[in-house]
Parts: sequence; C-alpha cells; structure tokens
Amino acid sequence: SKIGASTFATQAASFLQDACESSIDWNNLGFGLMETDYMYTIKCGGKDDDFKAGKLIRYGNIELSPCAGVLNYGQGLFEGIKAYRREGGGVFLFRPQENAIRMQKGAQRMCMPSPSTAQFVDAVKQTALANKRWIPPPGKGSLYIRPLLFGSGPVLGLAPASEYTFLVYASPVGNYFKEGTAPLNLYVEDEFHRATRGGAGGVKSITNYAPVLKAISRARDRGFSDVLYLDSVNKRNIEEVSSCNIFMLKGNVLSTPEINGSILEGITRKSIMDIATNLVYRVEERSITIEDVMDADEVFCTGTAVGVAPVGSITYKGNRVAYKTSTPLVSKKLYSRLVDIQTGVVEDDKGWVVEI
Ligand code: COI
Repeated sequence: SKIGASTFATQAASFLQDACESSIDWNNLGFGLMETDYMYTIKCGGKDDDFKAGKLIRYGNIELSPCAGVLNYGQGLFEGIKAYRREGGGVFLFRPQENAIRMQKGAQRMCMPSPSTAQFVDAVKQTALANKRWIPPPGKGSLYIRPLLFGSGPVLGLAPASEYTFLVYASPVGNYFKEGTAPLNLYVEDEFHRATRGGAGGVKSITNYAPVLKAISRARDRGFSDVLYLDSVNKRNIEEVSSCNIFMLKGNVLSTPEINGSILEGITRKSIMDIATNLVYRVEERSITIEDVMDADEVFCTGTAVGVAPVGSITYKGNRVAYKTSTPLVSKKLYSRLVDIQTGVVEDDKGWVVEI
C-alpha cells in the first residue's frame, strides 16, 4: 500500500541519517571544518539596497568575480555563534542578537550594508536547524555557525563593492586548541601587532586575522600555544590573543583590557564579566600593562571558539611566569556557569539563550 511504501521510505531515510551520524566520531572533534548539508545566503545590491529574502541551499563552493571587493580589498566580516544540543532534547543558540549587532557595527566601519537583527537571527536559526544532525550530542561539542558578510560585487578602483553577500555555514566543533583544555603557554609578541589605533581591530573584520598568522606560526615553532599582543603605540599594554580576549585575576579583582577601538567586543568576554559580577568578583575594564598581567594570580582567555581557556604561562622578553593551574581555578568556575547556561543545565535568568 501507499502508506506502507511511505513508512518504508521514512524508515530508510532515518536509517541512512543514523548511519551517517554514527560515522561521526563525536569524541574526537577538534576545530576543523566538517562539511555539513546546507548553508544560507542572501544578496544585497549596494549601500542603498536592502537584504531581501534569503534561502537555504546545499553546502558547497560559491562563485565570485575575480574582481570581488572581498578578494581584492578585504571588504568582509565574520561572526561565530554556537548551537548546543541540550540534555533531554532541544537546541539552544547563545546570544545571537549580540552577533547581529556586532556585525552591523562592523559593517558600518567597513562601508557595507548589513542584514537586520531579525534577518541575521533567522538565518542563523535556519542554518542550525537545516544541519541539526550535525549538532553534537550534549557534552561532546557544539555546532559552530559562521555568518559571513562580504563585498561580492566587482570593484577595480578602491571603493565599496556594488553587491554584498551574507552567507551562513556551520560545522560541528570541539576544543579549539590542540592542547584540548590544558593550560595555554602564551608568547608575548613585541614586533607584530594585532591592531593599530584607528584601525579595524575593534570589529570582526577578516583583515584582522591573516596578519597574525606569521606571529602564531613563529610562536608555535618555539613551542608556545598562541600569541599575546601588545598595543602598537606604547608596546606596553596587553590587548588580545590571536583569536580571543584575555582576563587576569588578582585577589578578588577580575580585569580585562577596556574597549578602545583595538579590542574586539567579545560576547563571551561580556558574558563572563556579567557572571563574575554575580559571583561577587570586582570586574574592571582598564589598561593592563604587561607587568600587571605577569603579576596576576590567574590568567585566562575567552572567545566563542575558544570558550574559557586557562593560561599556564606567559613569556615576555625571555622571562616566563607560570600561573596556578590546579583547581579550584576561578576561570573553571566561571566557565562551568557559562556552559551550564548555554546548555540549559541551569535556568537562564538573563535571557541569553534562544531555543530553536
Ligand atoms: C570565534 O571565537 O568565534 C572567532 O571568531 C575566532 C576565530 C579566529 C576562530
């Protein structure tokens, strides 16, 4: 009968899906691309046009003019958001509106139009749901969602592109660093800088990332996990690590570099500041000298991809300081609280999670 055939088809589809899921090694996810099923895209014709209806398409390569603004002049931004599967079912996004607003601010800085907050969040939801089978089981990782906004129109003379693409893709991920959750050993760079005064370091421009690759590779060759950058004016205040913000704890005071145009306004940074305040730490955003951080009790990094990563040592001009890395670490307490909110283990009384 027809019913029998369709039941068979549904069972076969479900079997194929399970077979595919079971071939994923959820226990060994790192931070590498795993191609998923769908991506979302919308275009917009230029600064006086709007992003209209977008659509999901099969994940795959895209076609670009060789003269596209993003390829020639780096006119592009990206975001990172995680979707978590919660124990007992359901999928949570963490503060996607914040990413939408950050992309809008970045778009202004890079002379690009941007999707509205509602369009952005809808695109992220659709991408997560279309790739639901790629969301790791609770406790095994998350689906990292990567929204991109870039000048896709051709532009030969230096100017904003004539067309923009907003594209969202996703990949399941686990730990960002190959060290896993082991403490990081940071190298303080005094030749290369991540951002300069008046530059684009405060927004998530793609142009902030390739210039640090050289510093990262040099540090890795010397056995370090990553690089801590100093401000480019005085070469004295700490700014960020290549892919994340930094915090130091001294006594009961938790400090992080203040937003000054060259520090990225991390959403994990902001959430950890909030959680720490609730747990009665004093939280300060201020200029932090390299000497200050070398004298801290505890240091840790925060970011969407990184989560909260403890720092085991910092090396500056040949001097290495080691920090406490055995429990009870304050960074661990703060991170557990954050993860419990993100995954629905504790009630979200802050309105941060969006169930989809
Ligand atoms: C993120 O934390 O989402 C980032 O964008 C950092 C990136 C370099 C992986």
